[in-house]
Amino acid sequence: MEENNKEIKIAIAGIGNCCSSLVQGFHFYKDVQNDDELVPGLMHNIIGDYKISDIKVVAAFDIDKRKVGKDLSEAILEKPNNTIIFARNLPKSGVTVKMGPVLDGVADHMADYPEEERFVISDKEPVDVVEELKKSGAQMLVNYMPVGSQKATEFYAQACLKAGIGFINAMPVFICSDETWAKKFEDAGIPCLGDDIKAQVGATITHRTLAHLFSQRGVIVDRSYQLNFGGNTDFLNMLERKRLKSKKLSKTEAVESELSQRLGYNNLHIGPSDYVPFLKDNKICFLRMEGRKFGNVPISIELKLSVEDSPNSAGCIIDAIRLLRIALDRKVAGPLLSSSAYFMKHPMQQFTDDKAREMIEEFILGKRER
Ligand SMILES: NC(=O)c1ccc[n+]([C@@H]2O[C@H](COP(=O)([O-])OP(=O)(O)OC[C@H]3O[C@@H](n4cnc5c(N)ncnc54)[C@H](O)[C@@H]3O)[C@@H](O)[C@H]2O)c1
Repeated sequence: MEENNKEIKIAIAGIGNCCSSLVQGFHFYKDVQNDDELVPGLMHNIIGDYKISDIKVVAAFDIDKRKVGKDLSEAILEKPNNTIIFARNLPKSGVTVKMGPVLDGVADHMADYPEEERFVISDKEPVDVVEELKKSGAQMLVNYMPVGSQKATEFYAQACLKAGIGFINAMPVFICSDETWAKKFEDAGIPCLGDDIKAQVGATITHRTLAHLFSQRGVIVDRSYQLNFGGNTDFLNMLERKRLKSKKLSKTEAVESELSQRLGYNNLHIGPSDYVPFLKDNKICFLRMEGRKFGNVPISIELKLSVEDSPNSAGCIIDAIRLLRIALDRKVAGPLLSSSAYFMKHPMQQFTDDKAREMIEEFILGKRER
């Protein structure tokens, strides 16, 4: 059979809700051939030469006994995953989920919750991840570790360096935005894109847009909060406050960078706030902004956003994968500044969303290196 040189071979670490939406999306949009059909959540149906159907998962890693050893298309339907199923009857993928090292991926407090709501560690021995990546022919890995998994994320980043493949970091441990790690990727001649995916229409982009509006219209913002809660394992995991340091930083930085002046700790409160099991993958965000307009007259906005959490970032990852593949084709090394600024909450360098999008279009056309 003729080899498809356009195939984008990816590995995924963390077969949770985000991975479920992504894999369902590959199937749901497999017949999209050109830019005529409207696919919500993508920049373009075709990026460079790459279609959605060019993306192929070739390796998958998890630690949950209900997922390890199963075909990827079955593993995504296993508990505790509870996101919406929008693509049914997925064919077998031919990729078996392999056991990864647990490290700090599973928070202790999860043990206090019913098995169907939490991670349950498999008793299988971890595989040699670098070897698996090499064997699979993966060109990049998408990292979906739970918030607070510093060691596990560093492990997968290091595995990419050793296997010589690209890295997309969808969660808030700082790798692509950290100078030391960024230099490792640069020295290895490998591109990376991160950190912490900014969803299609989620709390961050909504808050950034309102912050931008206030700033543009000359409103002085004095105080703001963004409270988020939901009923998936992401929110259960985040009940352990110690795991939240980089998540809070990432979310806060993403909003502050759109304000004309920094608000500081006492006046800007952003974070995951609670776990409400019956909400499942439905995330609720309450957002408030207070400020002053002409004559120091007060103005405030309150907003409630209700969104299925995991499909919200899948389209962004599909675009990110294709942009990273273009970077691999062009032998770009280190963090992709334009894509990281547009798709991620905590990039190496923040730009406004409009500017970042313009930069990506230039990158696609080859007018910008990264
Ligand atoms: N939903 C969004 O739009 C969005 C936006 C920004 C960031 N994120 C981040 O993306 C990450 C993934 O989100 P999710 O909703 O899929 O989470 P999830 O809890 O559904 O999935 C995490 C998966 O990782 C597995 N895991 C734990 N430790 C592991 C290890 N050491 N090796 C391999 N697998 C391990 C778990 O078993 C689970 O399957 C989270 O950090 C989340 O905060 C998501």
